[in-house]
Amino acid sequence: MNTILVTCATSTIGSRVVNNLKNAHVHVRAGVRNKRKAKAISVANIEVVELDFEKPATYSSALEGVEKVFFILPVIPNQVEIARDFAKVAKEKGVKKIILLSGLGADIKSSSDILRWHGEKEKVIRKSGISYTILRPGNFMQNYISGCYSKMCGNGKLMLPQGDAKINQVDADDIAQAATNVLMNFGHKDRIYNLTGYSYTNMEIVDLISNITGKKIEYEDISEEIARTKMQQCKVGDWMIDVMLGLQRACREGLMEAYSLDLKNLIGKGPTTFAEFALRHKAIFS
Ligand SMILES: NC(=O)c1ccc[n+]([C@@H]2O[C@H](COP(=O)([O-])OP(=O)(O)OC[C@H]3O[C@@H](n4cnc5c(N)ncnc54)[C@H](OP(=O)(O)O)[C@@H]3O)[C@@H](O)[C@H]2O)c1
Repeated sequence: MNTILVTCATSTIGSRVVNNLKNAHVHVRAGVRNKRKAKAISVANIEVVELDFEKPATYSSALEGVEKVFFILPVIPNQVEIARDFAKVAKEKGVKKIILLSGLGADIKSSSDILRWHGEKEKVIRKSGISYTILRPGNFMQNYISGCYSKMCGNGKLMLPQGDAKINQVDADDIAQAATNVLMNFGHKDRIYNLTGYSYTNMEIVDLISNITGKKIEYEDISEEIARTKMQQCKVGDWMIDVMLGLQRACREGLMEAYSLDLKNLIGKGPTTFAEFALRHKAIFS
């Protein structure tokens, strides 16, 4: 049976892809940094292996006998070098295909670190000598309900330094379904897909949430200084704060507004709207 390795298998998209693949006729290997923390994905049919990108010694055994890799990298400073080292081992191990999770707006010339790293990782994979598909999702809607981003939403206010820009919002379930379909198919060779939902301003987002919960919330466009303080209150480290502020700047400049039919073509239905997402998570938003 063919083996698919999913890296960062506990992540927002990785965990969903592992779940989608668990009943497919493939051998799924879930690469995780910490096996003890990964109990939730450790179910029948899923082989959980240690794959810590800070420990290159873990690459070789994780890639043994693997045909395809769904390659997710965490937001860490040396991710481009890691991508290069990992792709080299993948090539040596005879991997036939890499599906890279990149990001909308990936660009080697971007002033946002994240978007530049995505661009550089894409270049590494394109030059790896391995067949590839690159997936560039917009902002995950799930950011509004988890992590520090969601904590910017409190006391009836959503506070972000994003001005009145429209930002593309895509449901992680849709991204995972698109990635699963690409993984289960041998087409899509050397293609780049923009996985977009619809774009919204934060004013539109808070109106949608307010309509669904019946509780009024407002959007406040905050300065980067205030955003920095709020992230510090969430115990986000200085390096990550700078990276996130760079991305917020790109959002404010309108670089994250885009629409493509790629997602619809891959999953056979239109993208989830933010209203549908908010309704599904009404209890969390209430
Ligand atoms: N969030 C978005 O809106 C968005 C949009 C477009 C693209 N992306 C891209 O998607 C990728 C994943 O981001 P995310 O927000 O989905 O992440 P996430 O859900 O927060 O997950 C991060 C993952 O990275 C793992 N990890 C951290 N350090 C690791 C290491 N040294 N070795 C192996 N695994 C490690 C974590 O494992 P543990 O469970 O052990 O902590 C976790 O599985 C990033 O490249 C990001 O730029 C994100």
